[in-house]
Amino acid sequence: MAVLSTVITRHPRYSIAGIFLLVLVTIFLIPHSYDYTDAAVYFRTRMSSSSLANILALQEDYYKFHLERREALVQRYGPTAEEVESFPPGQQYYTLWDFFIPAFQCPHRVERIGNLGDGGKWVCGLDRVAKQKECVIYSFGLNGEVSFEAELLQLAPGCQLWGYDYSVQSIGPQIELAVDQHNVSLSSRAHFQAYALGGKDTHNTEPPMYTLKTLLESNGHKFIDILKIDIESWEFESLESFVADYLQPGAVLPVGQMQLEIHATEGSGYGGFAKFKTWWEKLETAGLRPFWTEPNLVYLNIIRNVRPDLAEYSFINIRGEHALVSDKWLSK
Ligand SMILES: *[C@@H]1O[C@H](CO)[C@@H](O)[C@H](O)[C@H]1NC(C)=O
Repeated sequence: MAVLSTVITRHPRYSIAGIFLLVLVTIFLIPHSYDYTDAAVYFRTRMSSSSLANILALQEDYYKFHLERREALVQRYGPTAEEVESFPPGQQYYTLWDFFIPAFQCPHRVERIGNLGDGGKWVCGLDRVAKQKECVIYSFGLNGEVSFEAELLQLAPGCQLWGYDYSVQSIGPQIELAVDQHNVSLSSRAHFQAYALGGKDTHNTEPPMYTLKTLLESNGHKFIDILKIDIESWEFESLESFVADYLQPGAVLPVGQMQLEIHATEGSGYGGFAKFKTWWEKLETAGLRPFWTEPNLVYLNIIRNVRPDLAEYSFINIRGEHALVSDKWLSK
C-alpha cells in the first residue's frame, strides 16, 4: 500500500494509466455473469451431504454460462456459425473443439477405463453403475480392440455388453480370452452382431444397418447405462436420428452416459462448423452434457500433418433417474 501511494503521488500519469488498465481488465477478463464463490460452494457441497440434485443444478448453471461464452466465440470468429472455420488455416488460435468444451463436471469419480492410449475411455461414476444388480452396455465400433469393454465387464459384474461392428467377426480378444473374478468367461456376458449403426434401418444391405432405437427394441432394453460409439463419422446421422425422439421438454434419453469419438472429417457426415453446431446442440437438448474430452493424439502422431479431426468426448445424461443422477437406485 505504501509503495502504491508513493507511485500515485510521484507519478500521477502512471497511476491514471494503471487505473485505466485495471478497469479494462475488470471489464474484459473477468466474466461478469460468473460468481467464483459458487465454485467454492460446489466443492464444499460435493464433500458434504448436499443432494445430488443440488450439485447437478449448480453444474447446469455453470454450463449455461459456458453456452454464452460459446456464442461469444462464434460472434468473434463468424459472426455467424456459417462463417466459422472449424480448423482455420494460418495464424488463428482456435479449433472446432474450443467451442465445445467439457464444461459440465461429473459429480462422481471420473476414471479412464481400458488401454492407456487408443481404446481407453473416460467414465463417470463407474462405482455407482457397477453396484446395480443389472446394467446394460452398448458398444459400436469394436475393431478388435475391446480393452474398454472388457474392463467394464470385469469391474461391473452385473453388466452385460451388446457389441456391434460389421468389420469384425467376433466381439474381440480381450473379452474372449478373459475370465472374471469367479473364473467365468467374460464372453458369457457379451453379445455380438456384425451390424453397422446408422440413422436408418436397412437390414438387407451390406453391411446391415440398424438404428439404435431398433436395436433397443429388438433386445428388449429400456435403458443403456454406458453407450460407447466409435464409428468413423456415422455418429452424426446415427445420433441425430436417435435423439430426435427426445428433444421435447420432459423427454428422457434412455442413456446414462456416452463415450463418443467424433470424426470431424472433411467429406463425411460432419459437414462443417454450422452443421456440427446444430447437431451438437441436439445432443445438449436431449440432456447430454460433456464432462471430459481428449483429442486423439495417437492418430495425429501416426498420420502427422493432418487436421486434428478426431476427439473423444464423454457425456453424462442429466435427466432421468439413472445411477449418475439419482440416489434412488441405492435403495433398490
Ligand atoms: C478356471 O476355469 C478353468 C476352466 O474351467 C480351469 O481349468 C481352472 O482351473 C479354473 N481356475 C481357477 C482358479 O479356478
